[in-house]
Amino acid sequence: MASAASSLPLLVSSLLLALFALGAHADVKRYQFDIVMSNVSRLCHEKAMVTVNGSYPGPTIYAREGDRVIVNVTNHVKHNMTIHWHGLKQRRNGWADGPAYVTQCPIGSGGSYVYDFNVTRQRGTLWWHAHIAWMRATVHGAIVILPAAGVPYPFPKPDDEAEIVLGEWWHADVETVERQGSMLGMAPNMSDAHTINGKPGPLVPFCSEKHTYALQVQSGKTYLLRIINAAVNDELFFSIAGHNMTVVEIDATYTKPFAASTVQLSPGQTMNVLVSADQSPGRYFMVAKPFNDVPIPADNKTATAILQYAGVPTSVVPALPQTMPATNSTGSVAAFHDKLRSLNSPRYPADVPLAVDRHLLYTIGLNIDPCETCLNRSRLAASLNNITFVMPRTALLQAHYYGQKGVFAADFPDRPPARFNYTGVPLTAGLGTSLGTRLSKIAYNATVELVLQDTNLLSVESHPFHLHGYNFFVVGRGVGNFDPAKDPAKYNLVDPPERNTVGVPAGGWTAIRFRADNPGVWFLHCHLEVHTSWGLKMAFLVEDGRGPDESVLPPPKDLPKC
Ligand code: C2O
Repeated sequence: MASAASSLPLLVSSLLLALFALGAHADVKRYQFDIVMSNVSRLCHEKAMVTVNGSYPGPTIYAREGDRVIVNVTNHVKHNMTIHWHGLKQRRNGWADGPAYVTQCPIGSGGSYVYDFNVTRQRGTLWWHAHIAWMRATVHGAIVILPAAGVPYPFPKPDDEAEIVLGEWWHADVETVERQGSMLGMAPNMSDAHTINGKPGPLVPFCSEKHTYALQVQSGKTYLLRIINAAVNDELFFSIAGHNMTVVEIDATYTKPFAASTVQLSPGQTMNVLVSADQSPGRYFMVAKPFNDVPIPADNKTATAILQYAGVPTSVVPALPQTMPATNSTGSVAAFHDKLRSLNSPRYPADVPLAVDRHLLYTIGLNIDPCETCLNRSRLAASLNNITFVMPRTALLQAHYYGQKGVFAADFPDRPPARFNYTGVPLTAGLGTSLGTRLSKIAYNATVELVLQDTNLLSVESHPFHLHGYNFFVVGRGVGNFDPAKDPAKYNLVDPPERNTVGVPAGGWTAIRFRADNPGVWFLHCHLEVHTSWGLKMAFLVEDGRGPDESVLPPPKDLPKC
């Protein structure tokens, strides 16, 4: 007893010292996520669906830069589950990243897993979502990372903040929708509605005002909206009738502020905008509607919510935005993206890699594969550099960490097997696609340039690509074929946007750069879930460095087994 009592103050003081070393205000934020089936009745069609803690969208994670976040996920449903913290860099800590069979085996029915990670040198809006099959349709929520205590925003302090989660809704069970699609070998049924904070709004015929999200505002005040595109397959435009927005952040990195009447977000992307309630007091529609510039059917339904000025009766019919880009407006999306610039201030510099150690060119292709078990004996598939990625049965990060052979090959090619006119006339024959679980090995700290090139194999299409474990700089973007002789001269290497998910324009290309300073296995994939399931994905294997903080951390004890 005596010794325990005397060592207690010692323990406390060393704990305090350790906390102090982490930063004076670093905090531990703990959450319990129960994966449960719940009847969500806020939607016009009541249905049982998989949720976290019974809510759709799920709970918001609040943290400050520098905090440690511990989320205990307990799976009470029959489906396997994993949760991904989209945009969190998880340095050396892929164990907490979440994509099923990439960094971890899924949490089985009845199981639990603790995601334990630090929020280091990141602040802004990110989000979390299930990362297995299509479960993320209903299993997702916001992550709000406030600046460290005492650190101001680099823009005028808003009076209040709100999260705006854009979602995509099927009346049917989403797993069934996906299964039907893969049995037929075709694109699964498109969604029935879009949602804003879980509600489609009164313009959807089967809905009523009761199923409408309203943001209460006071005249003269300014609000920070944290917008998240959590849709499964649809890129979206977002506008507020009568109000301009000032874009101040994308994917949890600050931007040079600029005004926009419409913003565009692809699935996976997040954006913070400032809105002033500076119009005549009233009710104004907030509108989310699809952007789709190729003749591929998409859910074209508009979701609405209401910007509600205090004191205005709810009987007032809200105003709609006077103009919004057409659904297929490639031009307005390109113009919007051309305005995005990193803040690049002394406090938040844009550390763009200027010299490149590894040049990568990946072509994005759609193709038709033979399929014995499919009704049509064929199925749609997708590939990068003609490789359709096959998910392994055990997690890649574990196989890498333990040196387990036979799970993957580290020979993903740096270039497509053949050069061709990528964006010329439609090619239906395919170019000899193969199946494989192939990773690209990158030396620790190498600087990488990756050009993602869309092709006209079957059809051009726009693809939002997401890289796990990193932010990257979007140094260039263009239509047609990337020209290695001419295009790099036009790169922005000073203040390019820094993000974790970037759109590759239909029939065009996007060039990104990053420094491979985070060892581990990191997923790269199209964030349109329909394409991910067709194989439009691969992973980087970033090797350990030699320094003390340059290798993958040991796995946690409760890491699920396959
Ligand atoms: Cu938002 Cu790999 O995911």
